[in-house]
Amino acid sequence: PYEDRIRELLGRMTVEEKFGQLQQLAWAWDTGPGAGAATEDAEAAARKGLLGSVLNVFGAASSNALQRIAVEESRLGIPLVFGLDVIHGYWTTFPIPLAQAAAFDPAVAETDGVVSAREARSNGVHWAFAPMVDVTREPRWGRVAESSGEDPYLAARYAAAKVRGFQGDDLASQGQVAACAKHFAAYGGAEGGRDYNTVDVSEQRLRNLYLPPFKAAVDAGAATFMAAFNTVSGIPAHGNTHLLTDVLKKEWGFDGVVVSDWAGVAEMVVHGYAADPAEAGRLALGSGIDMEMVSTSIADHGRELLRSGRLAPERLDDAVARVLRLKLRLGLFERPYVPEDAALSAPTEATRAAAREAAARCMVLLKNENAALPLDPGARTIAVVGPFADSVDLLGTWVIPDTRQRFPAVTVVEGLKSALPQARILHAQGVPAEGGSRAGIAEAVAAAGAADAVVVVAGEPPAISGEAATRADLGLPGDQEELIAAIAATGTPFTVVLVAGRPLTIGGWLDSAAAVLMAWHPGIEAGHAVADILTGAVGPGGKLPVTVPRSVGQIPVYYNRETTGRPYDASRPDEKYVSKYLDLPDGPQFPFGFGLSYTDFTTSDPRLSRSAIDAAALMAGASVEVTTTLTNTGGRPGDEVVQLYVHDRAASIVQPVRRLRGFERVRLTPGESTEVRFHLTAEDLGFWTGDPAGVFVVEPGAVDVYVGTSSLTRSRCTLDVT
Ligand code: IFM
Repeated sequence: PYEDRIRELLGRMTVEEKFGQLQQLAWAWDTGPGAGAATEDAEAAARKGLLGSVLNVFGAASSNALQRIAVEESRLGIPLVFGLDVIHGYWTTFPIPLAQAAAFDPAVAETDGVVSAREARSNGVHWAFAPMVDVTREPRWGRVAESSGEDPYLAARYAAAKVRGFQGDDLASQGQVAACAKHFAAYGGAEGGRDYNTVDVSEQRLRNLYLPPFKAAVDAGAATFMAAFNTVSGIPAHGNTHLLTDVLKKEWGFDGVVVSDWAGVAEMVVHGYAADPAEAGRLALGSGIDMEMVSTSIADHGRELLRSGRLAPERLDDAVARVLRLKLRLGLFERPYVPEDAALSAPTEATRAAAREAAARCMVLLKNENAALPLDPGARTIAVVGPFADSVDLLGTWVIPDTRQRFPAVTVVEGLKSALPQARILHAQGVPAEGGSRAGIAEAVAAAGAADAVVVVAGEPPAISGEAATRADLGLPGDQEELIAAIAATGTPFTVVLVAGRPLTIGGWLDSAAAVLMAWHPGIEAGHAVADILTGAVGPGGKLPVTVPRSVGQIPVYYNRETTGRPYDASRPDEKYVSKYLDLPDGPQFPFGFGLSYTDFTTSDPRLSRSAIDAAALMAGASVEVTTTLTNTGGRPGDEVVQLYVHDRAASIVQPVRRLRGFERVRLTPGESTEVRFHLTAEDLGFWTGDPAGVFVVEPGAVDVYVGTSSLTRSRCTLDVT
């Protein structure tokens, strides 16, 4: 619907104005190295019609003021599009995305998207730099916190949900924002988990592991994409024609904008791929980048590149058309400003309630010996100790600066006090989060000694999770393990609530704790949500979206691995010539898909609607139904996530031992049963070959179909693909 308008505008634009539309400058908040452009630079560029977009503008009044310059003072009056990292909330901070994935319920991400879009758009933000859909097997990588974890299917379901939440049906509506699937592609494969590091990946792994969530984002209508900082098999993603043009734009038909990451175009010089900034600009635009964030290689050298024939004018027009299309979709030409008196300025009771429900839904119960949780309702005195017991620092990475100060997290102490008004809550910090004095341990031990129940809230602060926050050691930082050991020495059974942006190695103290609850970084309603779970007002039902390693030396450890020719066999633990670590038990500390509940569930062996199916029929759209019966065999109502995995026993490319292909979170009362159904299609039973042209096949052979409540389930049947 917008193409005539785009053509007409292109016809009126000078070459400089065209390149101007491809430039994005930063405003008040630096989310990358070096200072962004000064505010005055952005204003001057907007006035001359030489700016397409600004990132990190806050608030209706500031964004309107800047927009007024572009619309009322530039020659063509083309509005700016404003982008911001709205990652898990604007005012109402939801749990971090990794936590959301643990809910195994994409509706959580959709709700976050809806709430965030409304708050952000009313404040002049048109474009959220999310969802981050990078699959990763690297808990050392800080950005695992922003991801949906290690599984491409789970990440794809979450990608689509977040895009739907952000964009709704009509981007021009004042409650929606454009989504940005990032970082294209394979950023989660950074070697050693070191941020921005090299990724060398085969085409088959690229397509089977890293690309599915991006494809799901395109299918859900994501308006924009962001390129990744890493190289992909030697070629920086910012100059990668195969990814940006051949796959994304041609194969998938994406007609939106590809924005660079912060200075990602200029960094091609640092990578040693482009000889100079002009070459970087040529490589970026030529390979499919449509807008340059912060660095100015394209705008600075575009005219000269065109003149020398190193850049095709059609590519320039295509990039500009994409930017204009985004602005038209957002309705910016009709409504460039936001009504300042309607700007949302705080979370509401309803959005807080949504964040609280989401946070509780995301928590994963890792251990619960002798039903230590929920807390005994008769407990009169509860000691809540540890560096995060009364901390507001539970929002997680990527929080808009003002939000952290204005709307901090509810602390666990506050949450428990309000949930248990009759109880006496004793608090002692014990030790600081990242080292310092251990003097407080004695006070924590005294509190534990005087209490009927003890909760230790331990973990990592958000500052060491997220971008540029790689850790080489995944244990509890500082002296927190000493604090736990001191509490354990009191002999009082205790619960550890872990707050973190990634899986931590918890081997050392795991045996001493009666219960362990992974709460992640739960967001604004943290303390209330933790109290909901600890008291049993809400039953835990989350599952791990990432494998928890026993030690850093075991990384990468993930469930959907290929088997070696010499796999470890538990019945022959002393066999030498097998794939194992000499100094670790086989397998992870906790597997993908694992999480306990306050009740018990069983799943029946899976039943298939047919035992055999033709590969060609599958490719033509046929499917097989898989059914299992889930029963709550325990004494409390609770949630269970039924998971479906497949394993193609022999294929032309060795297949993962398990591949998640379905999940459903179900709530049942004690004694209640329900049938859970899944449908296996070609997409679930086939795979991408290593052909760069993109070849997807379903091969004949036996496929094991598993259902259960974690990736270790043994409950299976076999489907013959003929
Ligand atoms: O959106 C982010 C990206 O994820 C990392 N670099 C900076 C961008 C804009 O803030």
